[in-house]
Amino acid sequence: MIDRLVAAAQAVRQRAHAPYSNFKVGSAILDSDGAVHTGCNVENASYGLSVCAERHAIGAAVAAGSSELIAVAVVADTTPPTTPCGACRQVMVEFSIPETIVYMCNKHGQDKKTSMAELIPYTFFLEK
Ligand code: THU
Repeated sequence: MIDRLVAAAQAVRQRAHAPYSNFKVGSAILDSDGAVHTGCNVENASYGLSVCAERHAIGAAVAAGSSELIAVAVVADTTPPTTPCGACRQVMVEFSIPETIVYMCNKHGQDKKTSMAELIPYTFFLEK
């Protein structure tokens, strides 16, 4: 399943719109129903409007009816692997459990594995 998730993130990364940074990122999410949702970064000439791959993947998951993320893969072409930015971490928390797994990879495969609890400790969230 992890291989499938990473492959989906690698594939969607090709669709990234990153003409300003030339830094393409792909993300794939496994939800609690076993479905996979993907997103890539989409930049804008008004730079501040650019949106990261992770947030687009979460938007796709939510739009498809997901409410809980089991695992998130992030793929960029860096060594060491790229980690989600602070804004994305906060957005990920909204739909995660502390045990949600986060895989950070480069183009060649899985590289680093952590959990949401480790990625963003002492997070802000509202009790549900
Ligand atoms: N970016 C992502 O999409 N995800 C990350 O985890 C890090 C950064 C994007 C934002 C911007 O389009 C480009 O990478 C350079 O920062």
